[in-house]
Amino acid sequence: MIAMNLAQVADAIGLPVESGWADVCVSSVEFDTRRITPGALFVALHGEHADGHSFAAAAANAGAAAVLGSAPIDADLPLLRVADDPDNTGVLAALAALARASVTELVRDHGLEVIGVTGSSGKTSTKDLIAAVLTSAVDAPDQVIAPPESFNNELGHPYTALRATPDTRFLVLELSARGIGHISSLARVAPPRIGAVLNVGSAHIGEFGSVQAIATAKSELVQALPAAAQGGVAILNADDPLVLAMASVTPAEVVTVGTGPDATVRADDVTLGAGARARFTLVTPEGSAEVALGVIGAHQIGNALAAAAVGRAVGMNVSGIAAALSGARATSRWRMEITELPGGITLINDAYNANPHSMRAALQALSQIGQGRRTWAVLGEMAELGPQTIAAHDEIGRLVVRLGIDRLIVVGASPARAGSGPRALHLGAHLEGSWGGESLPVADVVEATEILDAELAEGDVVLVKASRSAGLERVALRLIADRGSRTERARR
Ligand SMILES: Nc1ncnc2c1ncn2[C@@H]1O[C@H](COP(=O)(O)OP(=O)(O)OP(=O)(O)O)[C@@H](O)[C@H]1O
Ligand SMILES: [Mg+2]
Repeated sequence: MIAMNLAQVADAIGLPVESGWADVCVSSVEFDTRRITPGALFVALHGEHADGHSFAAAAANAGAAAVLGSAPIDADLPLLRVADDPDNTGVLAALAALARASVTELVRDHGLEVIGVTGSSGKTSTKDLIAAVLTSAVDAPDQVIAPPESFNNELGHPYTALRATPDTRFLVLELSARGIGHISSLARVAPPRIGAVLNVGSAHIGEFGSVQAIATAKSELVQALPAAAQGGVAILNADDPLVLAMASVTPAEVVTVGTGPDATVRADDVTLGAGARARFTLVTPEGSAEVALGVIGAHQIGNALAAAAVGRAVGMNVSGIAAALSGARATSRWRMEITELPGGITLINDAYNANPHSMRAALQALSQIGQGRRTWAVLGEMAELGPQTIAAHDEIGRLVVRLGIDRLIVVGASPARAGSGPRALHLGAHLEGSWGGESLPVADVVEATEILDAELAEGDVVLVKASRSAGLERVALRLIADRGSRTERARR
């Protein structure tokens, strides 16, 4: 964050500060005492298991300058106190206000560029690609702030925004919505000049009610951008009609990306090699260059085009963008993470999360990587699909068959779970017919691992994927622990 004294902090969040403390300098924000460095503002939250306020003394020992919280603390530190706040709403609002003040000043006085990404799938993957592209354009990697993992909610988002300092040139933020108005309010915390919308799928449809409502929520990002005359750039995926339609609601300059001939930034001559790594010609109005992606799956083409359009919007040339995209590797864990196990077995750990859209993308990549080899899909529940739960799982079961995946293990699909998503996935595969393969419903991760232990053979390819709540990475981590490995993930 921009360094502020406590009077300025208090002013930004609209709280009083006790006299005598006004000159204390605050230079960072942390909610975990283990990360505190001298000068930090410690944010005390009520957690599920612990109350942050009881760590105020530990924060003071670590060098914290002040505390933001909602209850008395037992430490000799100034406390910026919001009203009673059992669900942390007030503290998070204060954090958001502080982030907004810091980002606004960094943009105005230090040339910070803020980039926002949203979509139903691929936000983190794209944010990582954008970071790779922008990092190649700066003097030092820490001039780009794009944290690993998601950090896209009312805590992670302002926290990330507050990591930007006067040395930061680019702040890349992932914005996610669980309802109408969420993205608008995140965009107010750190207003982006450049915003990219990747796709509109059915993630969290249980909460939204309809795909149209999801599209409306995602469009809030491009509605929040500055006008074209002020430099606003809306990057829209032309391959997704619901995203392309957002061109009519943004005041910003529209840059379309896609695989069709009309997109401003497009991929021509796409091929997908044996490792499901795409190659294409990146075509822009200024010129074109060859890209050979290191990240896995056809779905990364759209993500890469969005990242290319961001590079272009900050003034990079096409060859620099193409080189950076080609050099990028997966940075956030458990997303299409490839591990070569002994015996020529390839493990694809995509267990970070799943929705119907990303499930399809991952299964397509599996069938691509598995050409000429035996393929296994170890799948679990796609959560939060509401009334569409059964139909969506049934469809994925059928897709497994149509793609000719050889073996399917469905975790959480034992007969006792009749009426559940996993059971519907298993039955969908079972009923699709004309399949030489087999679907095995199992109760849990342990049973899935036992089957793999007993039956995995040389040359097999295994995909592991489900929603976060299913914890299917345990299957992948178990295979790696038992067999030893080599995992491809870029260091950050
Ligand atoms: N453009 C895309 N289209 C479809 N699926 C994708 C796309 N990009 C990534 N995926 C798949 O979606 C899954 C989630 O990817 P990622 O973590 O990048 O998405 P996210 O939008 O950040 O998700 P979350 O909402 O959980 O933060 C990955 O497992 C990946 O295989
Ligand atoms: Mg994410």
